[in-house]
Formats: sequence, structure tokens, C-alpha cells
Amino acid sequence: MIKIVDLITGEMQQAFTNAGYEASYGRVSLSNRPDLCEYQCNGAMAAAKAYKKAPIMIANDVVAQLESSKVFDEITAVNPGFINLKLNKEFLVDYLNQIQKDKDLSIEKAKEPKTIMLDYGGPNVAKPLHVGHLRSAIIGESIKRIGRYLGHEMIGDVHLGDWGLQMGLIISELKERQPELVYFDEGYTGEYPEEAPFTIGELEKIYPAASAKSKEDETFKAKAMEATHQLQQGNRGYLALWNHIMNVSVSDLKSNYKKLDVEFDLWKKESDAQPYIPDMVKYLKDNGYAHLDQGALVVDVKEEGDTKEIPPCMILKSDGASLYNTTDLATIVERMKLFHPDEIIYIVDKRQELYFTQVFRCARKTKLVDEDTKLQFLGFGTMNGKDGKPFKTREGGVMRLEALINEINEEMYKKIVDNRSVKDKDAQKTAEIVGLSAIKYGDLSNQASKDYVFDIDRFTSFEGDTGPYILYTIVRIKSILGRYAEEGGEQIKGGIRMPASESEKALMLEAAKFNSVVETAFEEKAPHKICSYIYDFANAFNRFYHETKILSETDANKKGSWISLLDLVREILETSIDMLGFSAPDRM
Ligand code: ARG
Repeated sequence: MIKIVDLITGEMQQAFTNAGYEASYGRVSLSNRPDLCEYQCNGAMAAAKAYKKAPIMIANDVVAQLESSKVFDEITAVNPGFINLKLNKEFLVDYLNQIQKDKDLSIEKAKEPKTIMLDYGGPNVAKPLHVGHLRSAIIGESIKRIGRYLGHEMIGDVHLGDWGLQMGLIISELKERQPELVYFDEGYTGEYPEEAPFTIGELEKIYPAASAKSKEDETFKAKAMEATHQLQQGNRGYLALWNHIMNVSVSDLKSNYKKLDVEFDLWKKESDAQPYIPDMVKYLKDNGYAHLDQGALVVDVKEEGDTKEIPPCMILKSDGASLYNTTDLATIVERMKLFHPDEIIYIVDKRQELYFTQVFRCARKTKLVDEDTKLQFLGFGTMNGKDGKPFKTREGGVMRLEALINEINEEMYKKIVDNRSVKDKDAQKTAEIVGLSAIKYGDLSNQASKDYVFDIDRFTSFEGDTGPYILYTIVRIKSILGRYAEEGGEQIKGGIRMPASESEKALMLEAAKFNSVVETAFEEKAPHKICSYIYDFANAFNRFYHETKILSETDANKKGSWISLLDLVREILETSIDMLGFSAPDRM
């Protein structure tokens, strides 16, 4: 559906034309003085220069053209030349009824849908999923869902870190603990066991132990590096172990992401790029893009006009080993070959920004990526504790995601039981649903690039700018709709009538903005815009609700209209939270 602001703009542009001015001055935007008007047009100010006329005269000319307009109830030209607008109620109601009947709830599908790959999640195999990877999962999932609502083909790839030093560390540590394992027998040529020689619990202890050891023990570290290298070279026993590590970790990761309601289309990993590396290296050398620098193979990526030093992109280390860069570049090659995306968006900690600048420049310069494929880095800030430092456990360790989710759910459970609106047996399930909204909304309501404080008390509160507040509002609406249905009331799609109060009109104005907000949120890859929209929307609803006796209304037409409006509000709110990656319970 065409956006309401565009409909209004069309009307205004016609008025500019009729008054003898160029149509393009008729752009209308949301009012930044909601106390005075709902929408405004500032075009007379810009036109003043072109027509050498006082802006207020132009504004008056335009306003005169709109006297009989069906779009506005009030149009006023105010000094020095603003045009303040209030929408005609019938026009607004008609727009809402169209939204309600529209199968896409007013969202306009992209005319030219794009294939967009999202690189998000990015956990490292065998390391427990920790809060650092939470933001990537939450933000990426939301952008993916918003894009899908707009009709794009969104492909989410978890891009597991499975090829780095952590693998060598685990292998070396295992070798010290259980040297008798067949994987370390170099003469062995038979099949390896199907069963992994460790559980996920053991694996998660092995990695930190090995990592700590490598920091103190140089020889151990050298062994781990050598094991990593051998793995990458295809050592049979190590590959078999790597397979076990993968299987055990991936099923654990999947269950964790499931709890977060995060779903990847692809479970690709850094190692999947391995087969593309030799050809890519040859190509880079043959075409003169790469050169040797102190034994390492590098591509220069600095550009004229750089204000800071951008170091060369390293393709191979002097010992021939590949690096993080190498797999990322080869992954671009793979993605181009398999999916030919219009865009690849990386949702990664913003501390990796310089790194991605190097990778992107390298891919462009060497034409590993097509000219019309866009590479975008969406860096996010750190999730901090109340002390302003990166979020830690009470003991000061890295917080495991599972522990964090449990903590939130416990807090939510307490609040829900205190509220006593849910039977005990449902409370646990409800706590999980509401808890997820607390975590995700707490994260998404901040601009992604900013750091934010993870504050359990605030995030789980039923009041204020929180997920539970939004859910509470939805549940309130569902309960009214439920009671209305129980009383035998019928609900009509498109049955919304003229607003009876200011608060009702304000609520309607919010509903009319929905498609425009979704479009902007996607264009700017900014889920926080959906959060701030639904917060305003929920507030507008609650104001209306407190002023209006809905179910006890005796005028059936009025009541029926309110019920239709409520259902529209519910649908917009539920669609919005689906875009953010969570859902609402029936009761709470
Ligand atoms: N595994 C990486 C990390 O933990 C994140 C991966 C991000 N994606 C990428 N294509 N490099 O830092």
C-alpha cells in the first residue's frame, strides 16, 4: 500500500502546482511539533528563494488551494512559512480500513526483490556460546525477518568459526590427556570410531584449560599451532577429531539458538571456504594483485584520501598458513558462486571494523566480488554490565548464554507469579516467552552501533520502554478481544469508524505509520526504529484504553468499531514483534 505520507504529499504537491509553484516543494513530513499539528510541509521556505517571494505568501497561496481538500481537516500557514496539517478523520479511517483488509498489512513488497546474505551469529565451535555472540544473533535475526516481510530473499548464514587455533588447542590438549586415542596413531589406516571421545560438557572444559595453558606454556602453544596447521593440511586423525568436535558442538549450538528463536538457513563454516583458497591465491598472484612482503602474501588496500593507516590485507602467512582474512575472502568467492547475492551484510562486533575494511577493499580491488554486489559491515557495540564494563558473571567470568537466559527467566518467573494472573503450571512457559522479549527488546531498542547496559531489573519490568511492557499491552488487547468474542460479539475486518476522541485519533495516526516505519527500519538496517515505534504505539493505545470503556459501551456501532481498531493494533504489534524475533503469550 502506498504510504500515508506519500498520499498526503501527493495532495500537497497538487496544491503547489495549482498555486503556480513547482510540485517538488510539496513534500510533507511528520510534524515535529505534535502539539500543533500532525504533519507539516516546509516547502514554502525553500520555494521562497526560487520565486523571490516571502515564504508566508507562498504558504498562503497553497493553503487557499486546499480549502475543499478531503485529506485535511485543518491547514494553517504559520510564520515564517510553515504549513501545519491535521488529517481529515474520514480519510484516516479509510486508510486504516484498507490496512486491515490488506493481506500484507500495508507493507509494500519490494518491486525488485534482492538476494541478501546475512553473516551473523558467528560462534566459535567448541567455545561455549557467550554473550558476545548474543548481539549478532539478535540483530541479524531481526534484520533477516524485516527483509523477508518486504519480500527480499534473505539468506542467514551462521558462519561458524571452526578453523582457527581453538581447534589445534583442543586437539593438543586431548593428545596430552589421552595419548592412547587412535586419532593420534599415525600408522592407523582403519575407520575411526563413530562415537566422540568426549561430551559437550567435557569439551567445554578442555578448551578453556588448553587456552589458559597456551598462554603460559610456549611449547604447548607451538604444538597447538602445529596441530592447527596439520588439521588444515588434512591430517586424517585430526580431521576425524575435528568432525567429532563439530558434531558435538553444533547440536549444542542449535539447541541454544533455538531457545533464542534464531534460525539460520545455512550452517556454513570457515572451513567450507578451504577448497576455494588455492585457486583464489593463484588468481591473486597471477593477476598481480598480491605480492610478497617479508615472506607473507599480501594485497595493498590503502587508498588515497585515507585519514588513517589501513594496513595491507594478509592472504597467507610466511609459513603458508591461511588466516581469518583468507577464509573470509574465500567465503566471498564461495557465496558469489553459490548464491550470487546482491548484498552481503556482516553483523559483527564493531571492533572488527578495520578488519572488514581491509577484507572489503581487497575483495573489490581484486574483483573477487562483482561490482554490483554490495558488501556491508554492520558493527555492533558491546553489551556492558551495570558497572559499564563488558558483561561478566558475578564471579567475573565470561557469561554463558545459557546462564544469562536462565537468570532472565527466573526473574521473569518471579514477576509473573507476583502478578498472579497466570496459573502456576503456565508460569514457567510464560516466563520463557516474556523473558525472551526482555532480552531481545533490551538489545534491539538501542541503536546497534552503540554500547548498552544489560540491566536485568529494567529489561524485565512491565513498565517503561521494555519488551514485557509491549507484551503486556498485546495481552491486554487480546483479553478484551477474547471477552468480546465470549459475549458473542462479531468482529468486522475494515469496520473501523470515525474516532470519538483525541486519544483515539492519536492511536489511529500511529497505526497509519506502520508501513513507513518498517521500510525505514530496513533501509537503515535499524530494528531500533521498530522498537521506538511500537513503544509509542503501545503508549498511544494505553492512553486510549484508560479513557475508554470499551466492553461496557452500549452503542453497538461504536463498540464494534473499537473492536476492529483494537484488532488492527494487535495485528500491527504482533507483526512488529515477530520482526524483532519474539512473540506474545495469551496471558501473563
Ligand atoms: N567467529 C568470529 C568471532 O567470534 C565472528 C565471525 C564473523 N563473520 C565473519 N565472516 N568473519 O569473532
